[in-house]
Amino acid sequence: MGALPRAALALAALLGVSSAVLEVHVGTSSVFSVEGQQVVLPAWYTSRSQKKPYVTWLLDKEDADPFQILTYLDGVVKVEETELKPRVGFLYPVLTHNISLFINATRERDSGQYMCTVNVVDDATGTGKNVGVINLTVLDPARGTLKLTNLSMEMSGLYVCVAENRAGSAECSVALEVHSTASTKAVIAGAVLGSLGALATIVFFACQVVGYRRKKRDGQEEVANEIK
Ligand SMILES: *[C@@H]1O[C@H](CO)[C@@H](O)[C@H](O)[C@H]1NC(C)=O
Ligand SMILES: *[C@@H]1O[C@H](CO)[C@@H](O)[C@H](O)[C@H]1NC(C)=O
Ligand SMILES: *[C@@H]1O[C@H](CO)[C@@H](O)[C@H](O)[C@H]1NC(C)=O
Ligand SMILES: *[C@@H]1O[C@H](CO)[C@@H](O)[C@H](O)[C@H]1NC(C)=O
Repeated sequence: MGALPRAALALAALLGVSSAVLEVHVGTSSVFSVEGQQVVLPAWYTSRSQKKPYVTWLLDKEDADPFQILTYLDGVVKVEETELKPRVGFLYPVLTHNISLFINATRERDSGQYMCTVNVVDDATGTGKNVGVINLTVLDPARGTLKLTNLSMEMSGLYVCVAENRAGSAECSVALEVHSTASTKAVIAGAVLGSLGALATIVFFACQVVGYRRKKRDGQEEVANEIK
């Protein structure tokens, strides 16, 4: 530590800053969401002052300078002109001391480091204690492909796809019917998983339909299957 910060600390102690009670707390340091969902960044502050606070929420993205998205000043909430404008706000009235931020219909590019800062005119604070930081990660819908080659009628059955990430899990299934072994053409089943809880849309093409037979079997046992 250099001479200057040390002097600043001594000065802060003299001014009684060390016993400050203005502090920002966050419910968690990382929040995960799936595109399209609402997300809440939980934050609140403690203060012994009854004065109205000055609150700002900033977003710091890796590829840009930090910018303000929301403020509370002189009792007025102001949503800044950013792409988040129609989708953000304080979850509760600021005077409850709960300054949690909500973001509706999250997009992947909302990801970044969110910082809330609180200042109260007659309440002092320790260095950095009046700032809360929460990282938001918005996850893209997953995409996966199951490729089946050398189709045989034994490969008919129900295929289940499960996608999992830190935001939760989603499941989809597709029933595959193979009607003939006359050809070794491939069948490709592609699954696009939408937002959490929504079932996936499945598209698949089957070629060379000759005879007709039906058999159920667990697809995972097939050696020829290739899961990408
Ligand atoms: C503030 O609100 C958030 C979101 O509802 C909640 O998780 C948190 O517990 C609240 N904080 C306090 C101190 O009540
Ligand atoms: C955000 O979503 C909630 C719940 O759907 C809704 O009540 C609220 O009006 C929305 N707020 C904004 C700013 O879009
Ligand atoms: C939050 O993101 C920043 C910048 O990407 C990173 O340096 C920091 O380690 C992250 N913090 C957590 C708790 O993940
Ligand atoms: C498909 O069948 C052909 C001919 O029987 C064989 O040579 C090839 O290895 C098989 N492919 C797979 C992925 O099993």
